[in-house]
Amino acid sequence: MLGDHCRVLSNVVSSSVEFHRRYGGIVPEIASRKQVELIGPALAQAMEQAGVGFGDLDAVAVTAGPGLVGSLVVGMCAAKAIAFARGIVLLGVNHLEAHIYANWIESRSLGDDAPLKPTVPCLVLIVSGGHSDLVLMKDHLQYDLLGRTRDDAAGEAFDKGARLLGLPYPGGAALDELARTGDPAAVAFPRARVPGSWDFSFSGVKTALARYLERGPSLALGIALPTSGGDILSAAKGGAAAAPADIAASYQEAIVATLVEKTLDAAREFGVPRVLLAGGVACNSRLRQVFAERADRAGLLVAAPPPGLCTDNAAMIACAGWFLLRAGVRSPMDMDVSASLALTSRAPA
Ligand code: KG4
Ligand code: ZN
Repeated sequence: MLGDHCRVLSNVVSSSVEFHRRYGGIVPEIASRKQVELIGPALAQAMEQAGVGFGDLDAVAVTAGPGLVGSLVVGMCAAKAIAFARGIVLLGVNHLEAHIYANWIESRSLGDDAPLKPTVPCLVLIVSGGHSDLVLMKDHLQYDLLGRTRDDAAGEAFDKGARLLGLPYPGGAALDELARTGDPAAVAFPRARVPGSWDFSFSGVKTALARYLERGPSLALGIALPTSGGDILSAAKGGAAAAPADIAASYQEAIVATLVEKTLDAAREFGVPRVLLAGGVACNSRLRQVFAERADRAGLLVAAPPPGLCTDNAAMIACAGWFLLRAGVRSPMDMDVSASLALTSRAPA
């Protein structure tokens, strides 16, 4: 730890994604079984790479939720065993607060790629496979949830869209890649505004893509798409069928535009000059590009961790754990996991 910043000694990511790919999504049973197999070797590798022994540790941080309960239990059991055996502090971390705190390991301004030391207050956009949350952080470990998705998360919209386009799971990165050579204005997919709230909605754009691919562009014109509480700015327009790269770029553009508009509006409304991105979708190249362009014009600073710290990783859990430790938070040894754990502020010690 360096002042307000964490230094990573090791960050081992053991993934079971190749076992899920053939099913087109995560199979919870496979995930937890693989985790039981992989956690011991991953732990040993992380300790070796860091060059530390268990006796050097002051605390062990672990994800308490939200997530797949079987996977959470495996991590929690391992962390409790270490804390109990070494008599050290156990810290239950919320997965979303860990995504936020990845910015305190390393974050760069999207405009000029300059390293940034994040400070509070700030606005955070968390975009992952399960969440699209706008969080106002007035202080460390204090979270005001301004808005969230009413249906699909942004990452889910990317993954489902990619699947419809025939790309392998998880499709977010593949769709991003395909879209690089496409025209984002080729197909005007709908953008749900969800007026009067800071919430998002992505099920409408996903349905529009499915209709577009099923019926062809001319029939996509009539889709009404009454997304939950949202109004539709535009519907897919008719004409000749677009190329896959154009469809991917247009679909991505609808998701990105919605995320950027709402986030920058919220930053203005709440008077926060800094915006941090977090979660796997923060890797998206177009999201980063549009944020960079728009933030510059709006006089705001938008920053994000490098891609490897945006997607799920252990270092972000440890970094959030450090901020909890510093604030005097201690978790009990009978702490449970929660599949739907809400992001709540931590009481000052
Ligand atoms: O944060 P994360 O690693 O796991 C969750 O907590 O869900 O996020 C995973 C999500 C997946 O939906 C994945 O497709 C998406 O992040 N993702 C991307 C990109 N890279 C990962 N989505 C769009 N563009 C990308 N480049
Ligand atoms: Zn995540």
